[in-house]
Amino acid sequence: MRFDVITLFAPMFEALTAHGITRRAFEAGLWQLATWNPRDFTHDNHRTVDDRPFGGGPGMVMLAEPLADAVDAARAAQRAAGIAATRVIALSAAGAPLTDARVRALAAGDEGVVLVCGRYEGIDQRFLDTYVDEEVSVGDFVLSGGEIAAMALIDAVVRQLPGALKEASAADESFAHGLLDAPHYSRPEVWRGRAVPAVLLSGHHAQIAQWRRAQSLARTARLRPELIERARQLGLLSANDEQVLRSDARGAAGIAPAADVKAPSSEAANKAEASAYNGRVTMV
Ligand SMILES: C[S@@+](CC[C@H](N)C(=O)[O-])C[C@H]1O[C@@H](n2cnc3c(N)ncnc32)[C@H](O)[C@@H]1O
Repeated sequence: MRFDVITLFAPMFEALTAHGITRRAFEAGLWQLATWNPRDFTHDNHRTVDDRPFGGGPGMVMLAEPLADAVDAARAAQRAAGIAATRVIALSAAGAPLTDARVRALAAGDEGVVLVCGRYEGIDQRFLDTYVDEEVSVGDFVLSGGEIAAMALIDAVVRQLPGALKEASAADESFAHGLLDAPHYSRPEVWRGRAVPAVLLSGHHAQIAQWRRAQSLARTARLRPELIERARQLGLLSANDEQVLRSDARGAAGIAPAADVKAPSSEAANKAEASAYNGRVTMV
């Protein structure tokens, strides 16, 4: 998948090409990146990319013409690389919130993506109206520029590309099934008096899966109740899920904070607790 980014700060994108999963995917050729500096599409000595806003007010506005020429160049480069269709996305606090569904759709599509990173007070509206297919926001807050938002989008899309992650990782993550992810634990079994939930040490894969599902449901109901409603409407909740949610709502299952997890006195006690687990939902 190819991303062309229109930005005044191209070196920021080395955060993606030089580190972690995105670096490995980049080096494996799963995605390509080209950056275009709007200053390279100016025609004055000062390489001007911004000017004062008509009507007055603070700050500067990014000029339409250098951005338009940069997008034209990026689109032409995508065509030359054999990409038939290009989607132009501007990062904007006023855009549609970026969602897991949008990320997966971008990753599954065969369009090249051009990302336009604003700076200053924003971008001349006439460029947005004529050159941009969609505006995307990464949250209800204001960043200094579109670069970090563009990097968040690229990172989220790249990890969905086949081969970027082990299949199971992406499939089990938050939002994959409309719910938040279950909590994770690693060694030691007891850390500062807090034990790992016994079921995770039991070796019973079915019970562990059942526990994780119940945790996902309870966490989502507690932290993002609107996601439960949406999952319900999309038919993503089973009768058993509804039962878990009902018992949680009645307080039968109870969501105890992690601090309340009792540390077993020994590994043997922990194993005994694990084997006593019979499908009850004990939220952490
Ligand atoms: C300082 S901001 C401009 C803020 C603008 N005046 C406003 O009030 O919405 C400069 C650039 O940062 C980017 N940006 C800021 N917040 C963002 C967000 N939440 N999501 C995506 N991009 C954002 C946009 O590209 C924007 O043009």
